[in-house]
Amino acid sequence: MKTRTLLSAISMVLAFGFNTALAQDHQHMSMPPVKVNQNIKAICVLYATQGNSVSGTVTFTRVSEGVKVVADLSGLTPGKHGFHIHEFGDCSSPDGTSAGGHFNPSGSTHGSPMDMSRHEGDMGNIEADASGKAHLEYVDSHMSFEGTESILGRSVIVHAKQDDMKTQPTGNAGPRIACGVIGLAKSQ
Ligand code: CU
Ligand code: ZN
Repeated sequence: MKTRTLLSAISMVLAFGFNTALAQDHQHMSMPPVKVNQNIKAICVLYATQGNSVSGTVTFTRVSEGVKVVADLSGLTPGKHGFHIHEFGDCSSPDGTSAGGHFNPSGSTHGSPMDMSRHEGDMGNIEADASGKAHLEYVDSHMSFEGTESILGRSVIVHAKQDDMKTQPTGNAGPRIACGVIGLAKSQ
């Protein structure tokens, strides 16, 4: 009988201990997440890859409907150029291939920025005028600044050719003519 009483006392202590641990864990989990900076803004300065002369900037600003993308480029050939966020913020190789493939944390197929299912990095095309300048402005519904899906630390690539929004997984947009890393902007 004594042993049984002792065992039940031990199990009660253990159960109490576990409950306390669970309660603490629950409390921890229900704490509000790290405060998100609602006004977050990122910038990417684009530099030409070897043999090209494209330059420009792209900003990414959080807005209520998603992320506002504003791009201004120069030194392009007139017409449409594939325009994507790529996986790695690594523009070290002369041809830009060090940036990896299209940023695709959801494992989707390549598409247009207006598609429901697409690579997170699919920004479609940017179109240059006769003088080689291009301006693009739109609100993207797929981009994120948080967690493993964050665009921060990734890269933007501009391509020589038009993205056909169909060919997998690249859009058949040809060589990479500019590359830049997405980082936090000084002015938020
Ligand atoms: Cu690309
Ligand atoms: Zn893609």
